[in-house]
Parts: sequence; structure tokens; C-alpha cells
Amino acid sequence: MHLSAFISATGLLSMAAAAVLPRQNDPYVGYLLSTFTDADPRVFWYLSTADNPLAFTPVNGGDPVLGSTVGTEAVRDIFLTTNEQRSEYFVIATDLDINADGFSWDEATRRGSRGLTIWRSENLVDWSEPTLAIIEDETAGMAWAPSAIYNSTENQYYLFWASRLYDIADTNHNGTATLDRIRYTTTTDFVTFAPPADYVALDSENIPLIDQDFLSLGEEGHYVRFLKDENVLHVYQETTTGGIFGEWTRSSGYIEGGVVYEGPAAFPDINEAGKYHLLLDNYVEYVPFETTDVTGAVWTASDRTGFPAGLKHGNVVLVTQSEYDAIVERYGS
Ligand SMILES: *[C@@H]1O[C@H](CO)[C@@H](O)[C@H](O)[C@H]1NC(C)=O
Ligand SMILES: *[C@@H]1O[C@H](CO)[C@@H](O)[C@H](O)[C@H]1NC(C)=O
Repeated sequence: MHLSAFISATGLLSMAAAAVLPRQNDPYVGYLLSTFTDADPRVFWYLSTADNPLAFTPVNGGDPVLGSTVGTEAVRDIFLTTNEQRSEYFVIATDLDINADGFSWDEATRRGSRGLTIWRSENLVDWSEPTLAIIEDETAGMAWAPSAIYNSTENQYYLFWASRLYDIADTNHNGTATLDRIRYTTTTDFVTFAPPADYVALDSENIPLIDQDFLSLGEEGHYVRFLKDENVLHVYQETTTGGIFGEWTRSSGYIEGGVVYEGPAAFPDINEAGKYHLLLDNYVEYVPFETTDVTGAVWTASDRTGFPAGLKHGNVVLVTQSEYDAIVERYGS
């Protein structure tokens, strides 16, 4: 499989849209970044230096915070999500080991894992054993790069990932699949899931898609979503004011279209309303961008002075003081 697939599977994350709006009287004070490495496909955390969205240090002495014992026993594309009450947290990841004996991208996209690796916590520091949640149908070749949004009206999560689908008669998946597309399901507990369905599929335009990430703009139904076009290996953005199933308007061109990027991870700035950050993985590491004109899709490179090298596809979640303190107490800073 081509390089883009290699990179994308490594990608990570997105921002839980539910984490965008601070609870009243409980403002956000920092940022928690979840990621992995190619060499060590486990969950690594980086905590912001105070409220600096561009300065992060590894926690747990740089050792992983979580490692998988299910499925391929390797995880990539790490996504941390939570609900509005912050009463539970889930780490969700792609179940994929590119270092396994005999590994091939062709095999990984025909008969790859149809499950996502999931951990649950009620306090962000004590975690369950991992489970492998089979969210895809038997027609799917794989399940890559999950992201999630909590809907507080419905009290359930919308869970997204990328897959390609084989003909139902092609039980060995030896034939030609559909293009990669964004799939979704809903769940209240990450144990039972609604049947999967297409969310964004651009077969008619001949555009394979992976690595979707949502950014909530803080107003009901107002979102930006980022998608990677696997033909050109660039990320583009779309905007809606009608909720995630509303009408989306694509911004022209690609974000930083001169360079190959994937694994978008977007999050709002705690201190400056209307400012947003976007991490894009250039197949080696995350590069930070920022904007004060998010609907205009005007992104500029951020100051990288305090930004760690080597971060791969993950996500960034805003944390409250009690969450920040719990992480420092358990894992060091
Ligand atoms: C939650 O779902 C309802 C429809 O049931 C929708 O109107 C609302 O916009 C959704 N909220 C979010 C935050 O997605
Ligand atoms: C499908 O591919 C697998 C793996 O390459 C092979 O073992 C199997 O024989 C093939 N089946 C058919 C029906 O071609």
C-alpha cells in the first residue's frame, strides 16, 4: 500500500467537540494531547505547559500511558473523548500493528481489524482494561482513525472512522472495494453500537477519504470538519451551521496544499475566543497551524519553539484544573 496509507493509519486524532464548551464555573486551564509512535504503537500523553496551546511536555516520563492487549495489541490514531458532564472518558484507537511479521498494507485494508480498541475511565487517570469493539460489518476491510462527538441532547456519542467495503458475495475480500469513506455509528457506552452506516462517501467524485476530525465552533450546530483526500494527500475543510447531518460547504483548495498532510487535530484556544489550532501530520510529525478566521479557512503556521517533535495522529482535549492536577499527580508533568 502506498505511503499515504502508512501515514494515515498512524494518524490521530481529533478534538472532542463536546469538550469545547467549558462547564460553567469550571473553565479550561490547559490541553491534553494523546498520540503514539510508529516504533511504539501505544498511547502517549503530552500536557500543555500551563495554558500554552503550543508548548507540551510528555507525562509519565515519556513512557506510554496505555498499551493494548487486544486485537493486534498495537494502537494508532489515538482519540480521547468525554461527555458534557466529564463523568466518563474514553480512549479510542485504530487496532493496527504495522510492525507485525508479514505485515502488508494490502492485507491490512482487505482483512484488517474491524474493531476499535477502547479504554474507559471515570477520572481520566484510572483506566479499564482495553476492549476490542467490533463496530464494522463483515463487508468492511478495516476501521481506521476514529473520532467521536458527544450529543448531550441525545445522551449518546457519534463515533466515526474510515473504511472501505467489499461486495457481500466477496467474503474473502479478494476483489475491488469501494473507495475509502467515513463511516459512523452511535453508542451510549462504547459496548453496544448501532449498525454502521456511511457518513461521507465520495465515490461519485472518485475521492477516497480518511482521517475525519470535527471542530465545534461553540454555537449549536456550528462545526468545521476536516477530511483527508487520498488522491492528492491533502486535508480540506467544510463548514456547517446545521449540525453534523446538516448541509456542509467545502472551502476551496486544501489546507497548506503544497505539502502532504493527514491526521487533522483541531481545537479551540482557551484564552482567545475565535482563535483555533490545527495540527497536521506531515507523515513524520505534527505541524501546528492557527487561525482567527476559521470559516475563511485561513490557516497560518504557528510558533514551533515549544512544540515537541515526532508527534503523530492523535487529538487534543481541553482540560479543567482538576483534570490537569489529576494528570500531574498520577503521571508527573
Ligand atoms: C444532538 O442531536 C439533536 C437531534 O436529536 C440535534 O438537534 C442537535 O443539534 C445535536 N447536538 C449536537 C451537539 O450535536
Ligand atoms: C483470497 O486471497 C487469499 C489471501 O491472498 C487467498 O488465500 C485465497 O485463496 C483467495 N481466495 C480466492 C477465492 O481467490
